Amino acid sequence: MAITIHDLRARKERGERFVMITAYDSAVARLLAEAGVPALLVGDSVGNNHLGYSTTLPVTMDEILHHARAVARGAPDQLLVADMPFGSYQGSVEQATANAVDLLKAGMHAVKLEGGGWVAQLTARLTECGIPVMGHLGLTPQWINAFGGNRVQGRSPEARQRIVEDARALEDAGAFSLVLEGIPSSLAAEVTAAVSIPTIGIGAGPDCDGQVLVVYDLLGMTRGHMPKFAKPYADLGDAVVAAARAFASDVAAGSFPDDAHSYR
Ligand code: KIV
Repeated sequence: MAITIHDLRARKERGERFVMITAYDSAVARLLAEAGVPALLVGDSVGNNHLGYSTTLPVTMDEILHHARAVARGAPDQLLVADMPFGSYQGSVEQATANAVDLLKAGMHAVKLEGGGWVAQLTARLTECGIPVMGHLGLTPQWINAFGGNRVQGRSPEARQRIVEDARALEDAGAFSLVLEGIPSSLAAEVTAAVSIPTIGIGAGPDCDGQVLVVYDLLGMTRGHMPKFAKPYADLGDAVVAAARAFASDVAAGSFPDDAHSYR
């Protein structure tokens, strides 16, 4: 049976922790669905994790739509959320609404918006149009230039207060859940207790209602810097390298293809 935004809320009410994982293509989305992962995020992290950009900022609507359609083909029954990329919702309410509509037409069930303040007004508008919105507070990667880097947010009393107020404002505006990224665990716990919608943490400690990881971090495919909060649950990066080397060495030795892999 298809998973909906209401299922996540019910899991919070039952005190049942859940996961969300990013997905960028149909093949991996199908495997994550087979594992029973309830929510998949077509994150704008597709930019730095899949497309080779150094940040999420260059990701366009066309790119996110392309990946959203692929994920929707692979896992139509999971709750599918897509990020609205940088520049796709800042221009006007009309621009944001049109882009969010395109994401739902591509098979997504909800969109994710980074930020508090005016984003709460936009959340209310999209929610009124029947477009469920997931909020995203804390270390929001689209704000890298404003933050001066990827820095943990919410450390000062004022910043803590602002994040709690933004979370309440997003809930009041109709957001169905909130990603909390890169904030102290104690603040994430405070936000999680302050709102009745589920919080989903990444680098936000153990007290959120759910946890999200970038799929390549989860699978051990990330090369270079691995964020402190990310835990690899497999070693697919090394497995890919080993498989490619073994293939090349069999071909060099003339042992592949053998009879079993050839047509007579
Ligand atoms: O784009 C993304 O992958 C995200 C998660 C890190 C929450 O926004």
